[in-house]
Amino acid sequence: MKIRQISAAERPASMFPLQAYAFTPSPWPPEEIERYRRRMRFFETAVNLVAEEDGETLAAVSAHRMRQNVRGLVHDMAGVASVAAHPSARRRGLVRALLTELLRQCRDEGCAVSSLYPFRPSFYAKFGFVGIPRQRITTFAPEGLSELLRVDLPGEVERLPMRDGFEAFDGLVRRLLPERHGFAFFDEARAAEFREDPVWVAVARSGGEVVGALRYKIDRHGGDLIGEELLCTGPLGRALLLEFLARHVDQLARIVLGVGTDDVPELWATDLSAVTEGKVDYPRDNAPMARVLNVPALAGSRVGSGAVTVEIVGDDLIGGVWRLAGEDGQLTVGAGGTPAATLTAAGFSALVYGVLDPVEVLTRGLGDVPAEAFGPLSALFPKQMPYLFADF
Ligand SMILES: CC(C)(COP(=O)(O)OP(=O)(O)OC[C@H]1O[C@@H](n2cnc3c(N)ncnc32)[C@H](O)[C@@H]1OP(=O)(O)O)[C@@H](O)C(=O)NCCC(=O)NCCS
Repeated sequence: MKIRQISAAERPASMFPLQAYAFTPSPWPPEEIERYRRRMRFFETAVNLVAEEDGETLAAVSAHRMRQNVRGLVHDMAGVASVAAHPSARRRGLVRALLTELLRQCRDEGCAVSSLYPFRPSFYAKFGFVGIPRQRITTFAPEGLSELLRVDLPGEVERLPMRDGFEAFDGLVRRLLPERHGFAFFDEARAAEFREDPVWVAVARSGGEVVGALRYKIDRHGGDLIGEELLCTGPLGRALLLEFLARHVDQLARIVLGVGTDDVPELWATDLSAVTEGKVDYPRDNAPMARVLNVPALAGSRVGSGAVTVEIVGDDLIGGVWRLAGEDGQLTVGAGGTPAATLTAAGFSALVYGVLDPVEVLTRGLGDVPAEAFGPLSALFPKQMPYLFADF
């Protein structure tokens, strides 16, 4: 078996049959490959690795070049996707070899972190990934927002086809990136495909500045407005977008929106009856996972106070003994010392991403954390739920 990096132009012949078989209805219609070929200009910067035997591609993995905010620091991120093996080549270690190589290569090329959407978390747990929250979906009738129509807000909302609203939308996403923990987005090459999405974008502005944006579709008269995430710089952007949604009261039965774990739709209006749920059901409704690829690159992250030395075990990328301290709210990283706790890569990533506290790291089997280390580790890495945003 030989591992080879391939270009986007090689993906249709090499990776498409594996991906289409694994992730789409099949047999697929002949025009599907042509559609895939046309999309390849958006994959020029992706890292694609394939495992070949006798000239045949047996397995493949790839990584989108993305950026992610982890505790206030924006890192290059490997967004792992397109992981698939030919059915007759499964369980031979091919994807293990490919993923190991992919993560090492992405780390060497500057990615400090990686995220993905797993078909099954226990598979990626073997590669040091830990679960982070799934986006919630909230559903409510537009009547619930009617009180917002009586407020005169300083701003306006414009509804545009995505091709016309792309700059405003993309600009807002890039502005939010340094502000929101966990938030991740694609490089320009990959993001350009969204310009062609057949969706509306509602752009909220105040004083000429974009303060909110919502991508959405309407399924039918009297039906649903299906929105993606309601993105905003603060309460004014959200209120402007909600007021815009309230104007659909005669036209729609329901509004369906994506929200983060810290959004609380029942507080958006007094009489709002909303159902907010986070459905996780593998392999389709999957909560994302994330991991750290480079410990020294975390220096400068916004953390709590104190100092603690940890040993990360069983991981070629971040294994070792690390001295971690919070100085004026910023993480410093040194090597060596006497460890107060032993962590797996997933356990360490759980603390850095803020999804588990040290007691939960212990109970989840992601480290050997003595009781004396609970306090220092939770003071340095207070729990803080990340919101990934990007779907890939
Ligand atoms: C999931 C898939 C990519 C695994 O590829 P593979 O080449 O068979 O995986 P490997 O043989 O390298 O297995 C790597 C490790 O994962 C384990 N593993 C394999 N399939 C697994 C599964 N379905 N669930 C949990 N663990 C699994 C293996 O036992 C092995 O563990 P080990 O290294 O500790 O012994 C492959 O089965 C596939 O293409 N499935 C359909 C598409 C898919 O779901 N892709 C993932 C999208 S996120």
